Amino acid sequence: MNEHYPFQNPPLPYAYDALEPYIDEKTMHLHHDRHLQTYVDNLNAALLPHPELHDKSLVFLLTHQNLLPCGTQIPIRNNAGGVYNHIFYFSGLTPDADRPIPDPLSAFLIESFQSPEKFKEKFKAATLSVFGSGYAWLTIEPTGRLCIFVTKNQDTPLPAGLFPLLNIDVWEHAYYLKHYNERAAYIDDWFHIADFARANEHLLSFLHA
Ligand SMILES: [Fe+2]
Repeated sequence: MNEHYPFQNPPLPYAYDALEPYIDEKTMHLHHDRHLQTYVDNLNAALLPHPELHDKSLVFLLTHQNLLPCGTQIPIRNNAGGVYNHIFYFSGLTPDADRPIPDPLSAFLIESFQSPEKFKEKFKAATLSVFGSGYAWLTIEPTGRLCIFVTKNQDTPLPAGLFPLLNIDVWEHAYYLKHYNERAAYIDDWFHIADFARANEHLLSFLHA
């Protein structure tokens, strides 16, 4: 994806039906081609009249809201967040279901949550606690401790100083066609295709930064 304006919608890193039976093909088409595309279009529209922001990255836009021109903070926060969160979500899914969690992430999960199974219990509870629309995240604090973090709407964990490893989108558009209103069933399916190898890569980049 572009580092700065005009932002683009990157293709999925797998086929639309690759996550079946856990996430259905139609949901992936709508979610990627319409929902994410709308955030990309709206972000570019918000940035168009502000050439001074055209060289700024998504992360900069999300972490320097106090530097944004009056009237742009909310549309940029919502739409830059929508772009960042969705790209992170799609890239954190894998067609290779049920792969073991690699080290060092597995060791970090054991240290922070006693076991990967306990982590999944806590992560599921946090995800179910999202009131309305939002995300649950596995993040790492600057101290090096793992932290489960919940965000509303299209907010991100970045302003809180957290380094994201994995996220789950719990807006209803992410699961309603297949799972209806059963968010718990969607979360259970998501665990099969959550890309813990990708999360491990993020952890390694944090540790080596
Ligand atoms: Fe979404």
